[in-house]
Amino acid sequence: MSIRDIPLHELDRRPAHEHEHEHDGERACMNRRQFLLASGSVVSLSALPGLALAAPLHALRADYPRVRIGRLSALKPGEPVTFNYPYPNVRNMLVKLGAPAGAGVGADSDVVAFNQQCTHMGGPLDGSYKPAHQVLGPCPLHLTTFDLTRHGMVVSGHGTESLPQILLETQGDEIYAVGVLGLIWGYSANLGGRRA
Ligand code: FES
Repeated sequence: MSIRDIPLHELDRRPAHEHEHEHDGERACMNRRQFLLASGSVVSLSALPGLALAAPLHALRADYPRVRIGRLSALKPGEPVTFNYPYPNVRNMLVKLGAPAGAGVGADSDVVAFNQQCTHMGGPLDGSYKPAHQVLGPCPLHLTTFDLTRHGMVVSGHGTESLPQILLETQGDEIYAVGVLGLIWGYSANLGGRRA
């Protein structure tokens, strides 16, 4: 396993002309701090003595062993199925959104998978998917809600980090999990699976 920084646009294998909002998807992975650094605010911040310029915006991607998690033909739009990955105690959901999504797979680029622990304080998001809006949440603890069409971007609530997205590949009808974009709540690093 290795961890590496990759530009977000490399995650979405769809042709660039297919979905105009894929660039919105890139923005979706910014947290509030990254947004400030990427916007005009960086000019004034970088003018402060001793404050380094922000690095280019990258998402943390961790590659894990390729594991089969389902079949495209078995998914029904709006009906999530759960699976554990990359460790037995990490709960995720796989869903066909019915709308194109960042890093979505399948003929309609709408099949995605996400971790189900809130990035704020680890609240359980299990069973909170809202198919009418393709969001997960609100979290029962402090109401954070995540947009699954835009890499799990926070759309409301106390959370500031996007929901970790399970990266998928397909081979024929089979769906495989191959990595994680973001850090699963409670872990100090993606490598090794140790809890913080
Ligand atoms: S733990 Fe989910 S919003 Fe606080």
